[in-house]
Amino acid sequence: MENQNTLTITDNRTGKTYTIPFTGGCIRTMDLRQIKKDEADFGVMGYDPAFMNTASCRSAITFIDGDKGILRYRGYPIEELAERCTFLEVAWLLINGELPTPEELKSWEGSIKHHTMLHETTKTFLEGFRYDAHPMAMLISTVAALSTVYKDAHDIFNKDVRRLQMTRLIAKVPTIAAYCYRHSLGYPYVYPDNDLSYTENFMNMLWKMVEPKYHANPVMARALDILFILHADHEQNCSANVMRSVGSSQADPYVSLAAAAAALSGPLHGGANEAVLKMLDEIGSKDKVPAYIERVKKGEVKLMGFGHRIYKNYDPRARIIKWTADRVFEITGRNPKLDIALELERIALEDEYFVKRKLYPNVDFYSGIIYQAMGFKPEMFTVLFAIPRTVGWLAQWEEMLLDPEQKIARPRQMYVGHDVRHAPEKTASAMLSATA
Ligand code: MLT
Repeated sequence: MENQNTLTITDNRTGKTYTIPFTGGCIRTMDLRQIKKDEADFGVMGYDPAFMNTASCRSAITFIDGDKGILRYRGYPIEELAERCTFLEVAWLLINGELPTPEELKSWEGSIKHHTMLHETTKTFLEGFRYDAHPMAMLISTVAALSTVYKDAHDIFNKDVRRLQMTRLIAKVPTIAAYCYRHSLGYPYVYPDNDLSYTENFMNMLWKMVEPKYHANPVMARALDILFILHADHEQNCSANVMRSVGSSQADPYVSLAAAAAALSGPLHGGANEAVLKMLDEIGSKDKVPAYIERVKKGEVKLMGFGHRIYKNYDPRARIIKWTADRVFEITGRNPKLDIALELERIALEDEYFVKRKLYPNVDFYSGIIYQAMGFKPEMFTVLFAIPRTVGWLAQWEEMLLDPEQKIARPRQMYVGHDVRHAPEKTASAMLSATA
């Protein structure tokens, strides 16, 4: 009997039939190349703008079932990780594949603390930005500038050197993020306090003023830790794809990560929660939600924070953020935007128009509201996303580097321009006068 784990394709141009094996539910598009009209033909390629149906790698890091609304890191459901782990435990898990033992966790936390400081030249570099520079632009440039400090970083196939850079990045990105925030307010920078946990120390660097020791509110610190867990990785999203793509040229991790952060800064990626807040401001109050929904249906405005390329069900992260928001609001007081958001969600989840289109709230729908309640300005939201996503980018980068099937990322194209044509001939003297 014929191997059933294959796909049979008949090329109607030639009448020839090809048998192509499945690899983990996919076919290799390189196998299509053998399908040719004639000997001179290049062979069939896949055309897939925006990678709508192309797996660019095999990955063992993050699993998503978008139809069922399932998200797992290394096999662990996101709900359990958010409830039972700290961000640094999850970071270790994403990078190493297993949750840390108590000894591993202790040494991991110690290494991160050891690397939280920035070189003073990096601090000076940051000071060069204008007072009103966007914090995300500062973060991207400063992460790239770390490449000038750590010259060993290019030695990416040496595991110890590579892991050192990964530790440095996970430790230093919160410090850079906090300095960008303080810079935009004109406040002096606060050095890391290694008595504190990862998120407490971040809060210390953001908000410490003249008090001798910063004491983070434990509910807020845990909420931030949960938000970091939820944002740590999301398989082959736009910025992870950039990290892998830039990294595939064997560029060092600092410049690769800066490129990934640049991808995150776009409003269609990490900037989406800022757009949700703007929309909630525009709606103004709960009673105006039905009218806004009607405008969405007429195509006049967009419903921000709803729908996702992969999820055709409730984004599991949104549910956890909503739960976390309730804990934060017990401390900060209720953000009035929450009532508008809840009403928007209630109507949209019942309305045939949205149900048919499988438009459910995504992670960005509630994250902006909670960040605002914590005291962050919208410009900081993407920076807050970049801190935990640093771990995901690094895990994806290392997996790519160690994958023997990966090479420099180099897509093909369908050329749709002119066939060969010729520039008008000119005399030698005309050329001389043109260049003189
Ligand atoms: C993410 O977390 O990266 C976003 O939900 C975007 C995505 O997965 O495409």
